[in-house]
Amino acid sequence: MVERVYLASKILQFKKRKRKTLLKFLIETPLEHQTLNKNLLEAADEVALMPKSTIKQSPNVTIIAAAAENEALGKDNDLLWHIREDLQRFKNLTCGHAIIMGRKTFESLPKALPNRTNIVVSRNQNYAAPGIILCPSIEAALEYAKEDSQPFVIGGGQIYKQALAYAQTIELTRVHQSFEADTFFPKIDSSQWEEVHREAHPKTPEQPLAYTYITYKKIPF
Ligand SMILES: NC(=O)c1ccc[n+]([C@@H]2O[C@H](COP(=O)([O-])OP(=O)(O)OC[C@H]3O[C@@H](n4cnc5c(N)ncnc54)[C@H](OP(=O)(O)O)[C@@H]3O)[C@@H](O)[C@H]2O)c1
Repeated sequence: MVERVYLASKILQFKKRKRKTLLKFLIETPLEHQTLNKNLLEAADEVALMPKSTIKQSPNVTIIAAAAENEALGKDNDLLWHIREDLQRFKNLTCGHAIIMGRKTFESLPKALPNRTNIVVSRNQNYAAPGIILCPSIEAALEYAKEDSQPFVIGGGQIYKQALAYAQTIELTRVHQSFEADTFFPKIDSSQWEEVHREAHPKTPEQPLAYTYITYKKIPF
């Protein structure tokens, strides 16, 4: 799997024709049949020798998440709090865009979110639900959403972890309390991400949880 993610990220650097063939392989071949053939490995090695500055990323991929002080995201496939204003902000930011999510996050929603392209990542290619595009990997999902000016990765923990390599922006709502959880946001490496904006929301009688919107941008190589 690690090799596959590695290859997919490298593939984005190839010339268009070769890139198409390699991506077609990744998207259309079921995971269990994806033996890393010699050409793919050679191609990846070839690219690995290229300077990092030539690596291309999907444009403006944004991770959007709400995490507690202890990075808690959710428990028992549900959220841990209800902050109405944060949900409204999520809606305002994501409407009209592609939203990429793991199968578990999709199943935590009542249905596909309206006015957005719902892309669900699952290893089970027989998975089906109304209103979704099914993709076998985060790379395939990003490829599907490549025409979108700002595709959003909306969770959960497994997908955030893998998407960090491809994202340029993180829109994080930091909830200022710790929670018992079974899903956590990955650590934001301050050598790779810089905070560019912050907006504090102290607790109020209506909203007893204090929270802060923080925007991070990936530091260019
Ligand atoms: N606080 C927040 O902002 C926030 C946002 C979203 C979600 N959440 C919470 O997060 C929790 C869910 O997160 P989670 O980490 O358990 O699950 P998840 O990331 O939503 O989904 C995991 C699933 O995605 C698929 N998947 C993951 N990596 C893959 C890959 N490389 N290739 C193909 N498929 C892949 C697999 O589906 P298959 O098993 O079908 O193969 C896997 O079981 C819930 O509690 C939810 O409420 C919180």
